[in-house]
Amino acid sequence: MSAVVPKHVAIIMDGNGRWAQQRGLPRIAGHEAGSKSIERCVQACLDTGVEYLTLYAFSSENWKRPALEVNALMLLLENFLNQKRDEMVREGIRLHHIGRIQELPSVCQRKLREVMEATASNTKLHFVLALSYSGRAEIVDAVKSLVRDTAAGTVSEADITPELIASRLNTAGMPDPDLLIRTSGEMRISNFLLWQLSYTEIHVTKKFWPDFQREDFLAALEDYAGRSRRFGGV
Ligand code: FPP
Repeated sequence: MSAVVPKHVAIIMDGNGRWAQQRGLPRIAGHEAGSKSIERCVQACLDTGVEYLTLYAFSSENWKRPALEVNALMLLLENFLNQKRDEMVREGIRLHHIGRIQELPSVCQRKLREVMEATASNTKLHFVLALSYSGRAEIVDAVKSLVRDTAAGTVSEADITPELIASRLNTAGMPDPDLLIRTSGEMRISNFLLWQLSYTEIHVTKKFWPDFQREDFLAALEDYAGRSRRFGGV
């Protein structure tokens, strides 16, 4: 493993449905198998020193899926939080969420709040779940909050800087992702972290998310370590 470890890794976990389809299984079987890939990545982050892991677990657009699949995903989230709560507390993992969680079932909202509170003093790994998340909606909400403050006279036009805008996003206080991993070979950002990914290195693998192993995560870190990041300079 190279010495250059990204501080923040974000992942678009794609291909659960196709993984299940290939095996003649219902789509939710792909999501269930995908939960195991999450566990492997969390462990790999703890082992390598990655400090932030942000996962695109449910997009705003995912509400358009059949109710059966949406409900199963919500149940999977609830079970995941129930099963992982104590381990997160023990291992120094702090849970965060981004997205409009007020749109989630109340049982999921309660569980998220409970685990966030239980892990609030942890610092080893910030585990960020994007839920009912859309990058454009996040920017819209940030713009609205700035317009409100401008009307109230607490923010002036001259105050509006990239830093001020970043402070109004769901990710306020978090570093931008250094590395974005996308599985299943698609070359898209899909409305994920539109502001925050400006200078992020992108690693795409053809593997479906449930097939994503610890070695694949380590290979993405190796790929990242070989990149030369210039942030628009020379
Ligand atoms: C994309 O695959 C994946 C999702 C929309 C959901 C991701 C959710 C999990 C991995 C598990 C649940 C999350 C937690 C936090 C327990 P897709 O269904 O779009 O795959 P396809 O493109 O092959 O149809």
